[in-house]
Amino acid sequence: MSATKEQSVARVARSANPGLTPLMLNHAAWVTHDVEATAEFYTRVMGMELASTVYDDRVPSTGDPFPYFHIFFRMADGSTIAFFEAPGLPQRPAVTHPAYDIFDHFAMQAKDRAEVDRWHAWLVSNDVEVVGPTDHKGLIYSIYFYDPNGIRLEITTPLDKDWNFHTAQGQADLKAWCDTKKAAQRGGLDVTAELVAFIRKQRQRYK
Ligand SMILES: [Fe+2]
Repeated sequence: MSATKEQSVARVARSANPGLTPLMLNHAAWVTHDVEATAEFYTRVMGMELASTVYDDRVPSTGDPFPYFHIFFRMADGSTIAFFEAPGLPQRPAVTHPAYDIFDHFAMQAKDRAEVDRWHAWLVSNDVEVVGPTDHKGLIYSIYFYDPNGIRLEITTPLDKDWNFHTAQGQADLKAWCDTKKAAQRGGLDVTAELVAFIRKQRQRYK
């Protein structure tokens, strides 16, 4: 399985993309241990519609004998968030660092800043603990919270209409970050300290 994945990554790195870009988010899926609480949260609190369900006693793609109930919830643009409840599945192991619980997340878009604020009030009125709102350097405005499965969710709205078209800057940032990391590795320096210095130097462009 992992050899296949590595080969596929290597192939992508070698040839130029032939004009294939995904159209939109179809679904992102996670395991749940409580599909009923999940359905209540996504339909009532998150205002999504139960879009579809599938269940079977084995996984169709791999044939693995894992019985499951698969459920999809639809957002306004037709994209969905999905879950699998699989009986007998043990709890997921704890993450090795709290940063994983902060960085791994799923963000959904709201109409504007006022709507993000309405989400904030609505979630709090449902006893959902909410972090934010946070203005991310004038790019986006977001709040963060957890679903009943411990998945970190974000409700966000772009403040910069071109927030996801900063390609040239992104390519330059990616190169600078990787060059800094590789130079630190080659020089036997503390990679984290070098990257923190890089971040602090670059950060002035946001001020
Ligand atoms: Fe985010």
